[in-house]
Amino acid sequence: MGNVFVIDHPLIQHKLTFIRDKNTGTKEFRELVDEVAALMAYEITRDMPLQEIEIETPVCKAKAKILSGKKIGIVPILRAGIGMVDGVLNLIPAAKVGHIGLYRDPKTLKPVEYYVKLPNDVEERDFILVDPMLATGGSAVEAITSLKKRGAKSIKFMCLIAAPEGVEAIKEAHPDIDIYIAGLDEKLNEKGYIIPGLGDAGDRLFGTK
Ligand code: PRP
Ligand code: URA
Repeated sequence: MGNVFVIDHPLIQHKLTFIRDKNTGTKEFRELVDEVAALMAYEITRDMPLQEIEIETPVCKAKAKILSGKKIGIVPILRAGIGMVDGVLNLIPAAKVGHIGLYRDPKTLKPVEYYVKLPNDVEERDFILVDPMLATGGSAVEAITSLKKRGAKSIKFMCLIAAPEGVEAIKEAHPDIDIYIAGLDEKLNEKGYIIPGLGDAGDRLFGTK
């Protein structure tokens, strides 16, 4: 059974406030998303397995722990997920990166898949699926389905801001998935935007609009 984790570390909450602020420009927005993604990655990797090895310090022999070489895959949901990849890669540089291209049809709010490229050893990897926004949940549900269809056995979903509707949609469609959120917001508006949210994540990251 999956769990929902709201990572309310003060540094994350502080940075998230400036990410939300409409006066924050593209350059700063991008830097802050990158930083929050790295801070979240620190938490999401808390259960990574370790193994003991023997080393020699300048003083004596010692047993010490290292990561046991688990294979990680980072998968951004295009476009906005791209903004979170480098932050996670900073902490897990050996991870491979897949991509899932989805856009949300503005009328139906349903996700439309247009691109999928994953590492070829999908079944052996632990995946971290990243997207700044979890609104209706349609995109995340579809991306998780897409990963599972291709053989993924272990998936965590990580987003900056979620609406309760999106969390419920993942829990219903994929009850096995752990969800990591920096800010759990109030609701969606009639256009499917998160309230208070941050606006359109892709547009703010890439300066489009
Ligand atoms: C945004 C966001 C999510 C999706 C969330 O992407 O990055 O992928 O909306 O909405 P949902 O939970 O209701 O599916 P968008 O469709 O705007 O595409 P873009 O990143 O290419 O701009
Ligand atoms: N996608 C966004 O970029 N922002 C929202 O508030 C909802 C979906």
